Amino acid sequence: MEHYIIKGGKPLEGEVEISGAKNAALGLLAAAIMTDEEVTIENLPDVSDINQLIEAIENIGATVDRVDRHTVKINGKTIDSYVVEYEQMKKIRASYYLLGALLGRFKNAEVALPGGCAIGSRPIDQHTKGFRALGADVDDENKNGRGMLIAKADKLIGNHIFLDMASVGATINLMLAASLAEGKTTIENVAKEPHVVDVANLLNSMGANIRGAGTDKIRIYGVEKLHGTTYSVIPDQIEAGTFMCAAAATGGSILVKNVIPIHLECITSKLIEMGCIVTEYDDAVRVKAGDNIRSTQLKTLPYPGFPTDMQPQMTAVLSVATGYSIVVESIFENRFKYVGELNRMGAKIQVEGSTAFINGVNGLKGARVSAPDLRAGAALVIAGLMAEGFTTVDDIVYIQRGYENFEDKLRGLGADIEKVSDDREEQKFKLRVG
Ligand code: EPZ
Repeated sequence: MEHYIIKGGKPLEGEVEISGAKNAALGLLAAAIMTDEEVTIENLPDVSDINQLIEAIENIGATVDRVDRHTVKINGKTIDSYVVEYEQMKKIRASYYLLGALLGRFKNAEVALPGGCAIGSRPIDQHTKGFRALGADVDDENKNGRGMLIAKADKLIGNHIFLDMASVGATINLMLAASLAEGKTTIENVAKEPHVVDVANLLNSMGANIRGAGTDKIRIYGVEKLHGTTYSVIPDQIEAGTFMCAAAATGGSILVKNVIPIHLECITSKLIEMGCIVTEYDDAVRVKAGDNIRSTQLKTLPYPGFPTDMQPQMTAVLSVATGYSIVVESIFENRFKYVGELNRMGAKIQVEGSTAFINGVNGLKGARVSAPDLRAGAALVIAGLMAEGFTTVDDIVYIQRGYENFEDKLRGLGADIEKVSDDREEQKFKLRVG
């Protein structure tokens, strides 16, 4: 099984180019099937989650042209199925965006019920509440006996929807469905993440009429049909934040390029609190680590609050801060599974419910660890980059779901990291880096 081998202790220095945002691209790809004209999506990240969703879109009959690693042309004219099977949902949970897209366009969608995942139960009751409010008949209790979520409607009628929580997925899924409903839909208490705004911008460039994305209330005036367009994915806020944390953790200085600095403000302000020097440019930020890392407190919140997808990476950095830090995870109920692995590297972190109490240590020591999920995997790599000695990170398939060329980009910053398949390759690496 492929894994990362890392020799830690080197400050990361240099420049890194950020890829397109995975969590925006997933919503954009679903929106792209909502017309029978060609939609071109550029700046896609070349990561497995994206490639899996493109495969799901091909499986329902859409015409897909992979122009290059980062560009796809999709034409939904040839779609001949409204069914997204369990096999597909198992690979990529965000296949459920095809619910909103298929229901919106064809008034008919059948998608395998998504299970939970490593970080929480992740129900989709807000999605189905919204679909029902638009007039769909939704079977989300497996009355069909096939483990499928089935949503059908003679037509979709605009309505007022108030979400119980600012759910990214529900906001995007309901924007998709409502864009082709009759009349006006107002969705309140919505998610304001940059990727929500990106999907609204694509839909509008396809002829939709969506107002207020990025605020607490989105107004959608349904249109008859959508048309083709060409659209480029925004830079990935979380990938950028991950490299910013890597600079802080290793005592380095990294210019993180191709970013939208305002999307990083919550991360930037936290790193400044921790003693880093962060300089913002038009489309880049430079993070220079301070002489030491100051402890702090943070709580994950919907955007523009501190992103839950940055919680593991920041906890890794705080594990070697001077003094006590507290991290509260308010979005998912089980997102500290990786802490045990950090403690095996010498961290002193105690988790009580949704709070991690971090007693900063002088440094970590390398160990063999495994990634329980995508962002925790990135956090363990950051820990390995700053640890003394060698760290092996197993189960990197999770990391490859959301980080394009992760090890190459880190090596470009001077990191001693390699993706290896067996002990022989690992020994070769250890001999080479000494
Ligand atoms: C998206 O997940 C992201 N995934 C997640 O990123 C991210 O952590 C999350 O938003 C929060 O920002 C994608 O965009 C593909 P939510 P999503 O709906 O949409 C509860 C990564 O690492 N909830 O905003 O599933 C839910 O259980 C991934 O890239 C309901 O109760 O997140 C959670 O506690 C991990 N009912 C909270 O709301 C619902 O119907 C936020 O979930 C929907 C959500």
